[in-house]
Amino acid sequence: MINKLQKVNDILEKYNQEHLIQFYDELDDTQKENLLNQILSIDFEKIFTLYDNSMKTEYILSNEVSPLEYFVKDNFSAEDIKFYSSFGEDLIKSGSFAVVTMAGGQGTRLGYKGPKGTYILSFENTKKSLFQIMCEDIKRANEKFNVTIPWYIMTSDENDAKTKAFFEKNNFWGYPKESVKFFTQGKLPIISVDKKLILQDIFSIKEGSNGNGDVFSAMKKHGILDEMKENNIKWVSFGGIDNILLQNVDTFFLGLAINKNYSIASKSIFKKEPLEKTAVYCRKFEKPSILDYDFIDLDLSMSCDNAGNYLYRDANMLSHLMNIEAIEKISNTKLRYHRAFKKNAFINSEGVKQVPDKPNTFKFEKFIFDAFSYFDDMLLLRVDENKEFAPIKDFTSIYNPFTAMQKYEDYWNLDK
Ligand code: UTP
Repeated sequence: MINKLQKVNDILEKYNQEHLIQFYDELDDTQKENLLNQILSIDFEKIFTLYDNSMKTEYILSNEVSPLEYFVKDNFSAEDIKFYSSFGEDLIKSGSFAVVTMAGGQGTRLGYKGPKGTYILSFENTKKSLFQIMCEDIKRANEKFNVTIPWYIMTSDENDAKTKAFFEKNNFWGYPKESVKFFTQGKLPIISVDKKLILQDIFSIKEGSNGNGDVFSAMKKHGILDEMKENNIKWVSFGGIDNILLQNVDTFFLGLAINKNYSIASKSIFKKEPLEKTAVYCRKFEKPSILDYDFIDLDLSMSCDNAGNYLYRDANMLSHLMNIEAIEKISNTKLRYHRAFKKNAFINSEGVKQVPDKPNTFKFEKFIFDAFSYFDDMLLLRVDENKEFAPIKDFTSIYNPFTAMQKYEDYWNLDK
């Protein structure tokens, strides 16, 4: 332990992080050992390089950006919908379709203790967790197509045990257990604005999931990709846990991608306000990409094609499809990291837990949409947000639980 402590001391001194063992003498032997091991497992060079790089200003030149072509679902006739859906249906019925739910996020904005998927919504007549809603969506497809779609759930170290326990407690809401698999994504230390790692307890350093874009390498690392290949899975749908109108199994979307020979596809919703702080789909250097709102001005947002259709108004709604070859390709690629500014509680120098009321830390995350630029083309399908987009993010924006529940109820009542 002495040697280990010396090694840790050297590392902390080198990176100016001595505060991490400030309470070392107060710990019992197990806590001491765990803290030293945690410190030795952290890639300090990586986290500080990410921090330094994120301080550099990014420029995008207007000639790098061009529009990404899109389809609008409402423009398809009933006959066309039926035609394309048949390709999706055939694939699903042949057992070659799987769903991945990305549920490894921290849900900091919602401020709910526990995995976001375990958050309970109280509807007028019933209560449902986000996981139950997602499960019911996939079960409906199973019943309709007489299959059991393999359901993969990405968790993080922080929420894996609680997520699994929640599924067990609820008996998987009747989903065949053997068809549900959990896998954990990677993590990185959370870092304060003044470049210090933070303690979540006097004996452990706060680490957080490294973004939903880690899904591909996590699938590879945990053998999910191999398992999918062995089981002849050809297409996979990827979605977040927090959109309660997400259609995980959409035969039309899938069939359109298959029939038109795409290997990746995304749904979008129309961005109503030109300067709303929402990223939109575009091409950068000809490749499908996402344009962050910082780079969108009024001119760009209002620009139209000759027929008067907006060119840069398709917002990401975290609903994607990829074929297995595309997933394999990206699982061997290192996606870049983005900096997110988030609220994280920490132990201060007096050993007291501080709970911030505004963002205080940086978290480095890979985003799933960065995979798109590794392809020449992708299908982009604009859908009706009232039918497919009811996300739960926080209590202050329009993406709050109450608005989402209202949309969900409206949708399901309309359909009855
Ligand atoms: P968000 O980016 O909205 O993050 O995730 P979040 O963790 O839910 O909430 P905040 O930003 O901390 O408030 C969109 C989707 O991506 C998943 C989330 O679980 C959610 O389904 N996600 C996010 C991951 O699976 N892993 C991550 O590291 C981050």
